Amino acid sequence: MKVLVTGASGKLGSYLMRHDGLLGGGRSGPDHQFDLCDSELERRLGEIGPEVVIHTAALSAVADCLHEPEKADLVNHQASARLGRWCADKGVRLVYVSTDMVFDGETAPYDEEAVPAPVSEYGRSKLRGERAVLEQGHLVARVALMVGPALGVGQSYYDQLVANLRAGRPASLFQDEWRGMISYEDAAEALVRLALGSGTGIVHLAGPRLSRLEMGRQLSLHLAVPELVSAGQRSDYPSPEPRPRDLTMVSRRWEELLPGWRARKIEEQIPGWLS
Ligand SMILES: NC(=O)c1ccc[n+]([C@@H]2O[C@H](COP(=O)([O-])OP(=O)(O)OC[C@H]3O[C@@H](n4cnc5c(N)ncnc54)[C@H](OP(=O)(O)O)[C@@H]3O)[C@@H](O)[C@H]2O)c1
Repeated sequence: MKVLVTGASGKLGSYLMRHDGLLGGGRSGPDHQFDLCDSELERRLGEIGPEVVIHTAALSAVADCLHEPEKADLVNHQASARLGRWCADKGVRLVYVSTDMVFDGETAPYDEEAVPAPVSEYGRSKLRGERAVLEQGHLVARVALMVGPALGVGQSYYDQLVANLRAGRPASLFQDEWRGMISYEDAAEALVRLALGSGTGIVHLAGPRLSRLEMGRQLSLHLAVPELVSAGQRSDYPSPEPRPRDLTMVSRRWEELLPGWRARKIEEQIPGWLS
């Protein structure tokens, strides 16, 4: 089975590329280079000839989407719609990686039937992308906040936190913001299984509810610097867009689409990441 990963150089993409036999694509993809917004996209896809596409490529930073909403729409929505159309025309399966940020955070937990109401440019552009690929009969996998060390270039949120704590810098972390945090590794494993399956529609991929403060406290205990982590509130840090309070997601579809699969607790994975 020829499985193409878009955004293979990204944080999630790098974890996907640890799975055997996947083809890595994107602007700096290890196997195939293409820009999703280029007029040549369909021709390049035709040359590559995938049977399945795991579409992770995106303008993924919330702040970038706020500052460049047109680019966010171009990449997250319009390019996804083109990719979805090409796949549907060729009988190619597509798994579109979406986000818990399509919800507003006021009525968690969210299952696959919950009505999206994004409060950020990022969330709105990803939701438009979702709707475009769902119209073409594909699968949308909404992934919760991913945590873990970055494998490629660049740093993840987790890497920055570890670096700060190791350098003795204090960290004030939100005690009033919750996500169903999942590791990049667990998300990638589930996505590969979904890609090789036949499910369509929407599925949520999330771990248990965890606040940033709880996550940071666990990390600080393993680094033996618990005094460096303190509780912060979202209201202490005004942001140009609302920060959703609780984006915890649950799923009604795991037994059907991912029998036996569960995301591991982040707390259980931290010792392995630090060793
Ligand atoms: N990070 C999270 O916690 C999180 C949570 C839920 C969902 N998601 C979703 O998961 C996916 C992956 O996130 P991530 O954190 O791994 O993102 P990332 O590290 O920012 O990676 C994004 C990837 O997209 C590629 N890309 C961007 N624009 C492109 C274009 N025009 N043409 C081709 N490739 C392009 C980049 O390639 P180049 O570097 O070569 O440009 C990069 O490989 C995204 O769809 C995001 O919305 C992320």
